[in-house]
Amino acid sequence: MLEISNLSIRYGSKEGGVRALEGVNLRIEDGSIFGIVGESGSGKSTLAMALMRLLPKSGSVEGGQVLLDGQDILSMPDREFRKLRGSKLSLVFQGAMNTLNPLMRIDIQVAEPLVLHGMSEKDAALQKAHETLELVGLDASTWRKYPHELSGGMKQRTVIASAIITQPKVLIADEPSTALDVITQVQIMNLLRSLQRRLYMTVIFISHDFPLVSEMSDRIAIMYGGKLCETGRNDQIMHRPMHPYTVGLINSVASIGNKRKLSAIPGDPVDMRNPPSGCRFRPRCSGATEKCASYGYAVTNVESEHDVYCTLYGN
Ligand SMILES: Nc1ncnc2c1ncn2[C@@H]1O[C@H](COP(=O)(O)OP(=O)(O)OP(=O)(O)O)[C@@H](O)[C@H]1O
Ligand code: SF4
Ligand SMILES: [Mg+2]
Repeated sequence: MLEISNLSIRYGSKEGGVRALEGVNLRIEDGSIFGIVGESGSGKSTLAMALMRLLPKSGSVEGGQVLLDGQDILSMPDREFRKLRGSKLSLVFQGAMNTLNPLMRIDIQVAEPLVLHGMSEKDAALQKAHETLELVGLDASTWRKYPHELSGGMKQRTVIASAIITQPKVLIADEPSTALDVITQVQIMNLLRSLQRRLYMTVIFISHDFPLVSEMSDRIAIMYGGKLCETGRNDQIMHRPMHPYTVGLINSVASIGNKRKLSAIPGDPVDMRNPPSGCRFRPRCSGATEKCASYGYAVTNVESEHDVYCTLYGN
């Protein structure tokens, strides 16, 4: 179980910076696919990097706690966390397939995390890399190839193999299919789903693509401007959406068919350097009232497992 409580992340100084994540609370059950959706700049990658303790120097945790099986992963010493990263928690970075080393055979790259974590000798690591590449659908004819010899889908499979070779309990996949054509995208989604079941992993699936997240996930969190809007089971979010932004997303998908854009909601994304007071969705919300300008993001539990952050609910 991964429990994120009141997590806030800032980039830059207190005076001139951006609070990219504010007061985020999530409970992610073992062995499920948890989808996180939000438009560009909503803080999805910031959350992923914070969970991996890989925020850039300009980023800092302002507050909050992340418990993985009861262990506080943000405050544990670096050495202890490094052991855990890879073995328990692993990340497919946004755009990772473009950062494969062009000069290194893919099987050697996939084996690297095992060697780095001191889990295996080189030969055993290479053997394990071959098994893992096979598991992600890359047969022996590809193992000794270099990244430029592979298609986009094959590169993404390689990246996924590197992330799962250490058999992590939790795999975070940040926009794992964004740069791929639609057919390859479906194949990568099917692969992630089958790996999740076979290896009984928890997958945190991050995307700006709402239909894709709804197809993939058991539970869904919707983010806007670094804050949560709504969290719930897939059926709750899709059939009983409560937050005006979620409703807008569902309507925009219905109205644009398969074009898969979130931009059909009128108005501009939040200026994170100068966010509106109260609810960050306020300038784009047709249901906004005076209360919304001073809304402190109190959460309302509308039904079991279904939480919403909006003044329309609760007292
Ligand atoms: N290294 C950084 N330094 C300063 N600000 C940053 C940095 N990285 C991200 N930000 C800001 O933090 C906010 C959240 O960015 P983040 O990359 O987490 O969003 P995202 O939801 O992953 O977007 P996308 O869908 O484009 O990947 C944005 O306002 C962004 O400009
Ligand atoms: S809090 Fe107000 S502005 Fe924000 S989504 Fe709810 S009704 Fe709209
Ligand atoms: Mg991102």
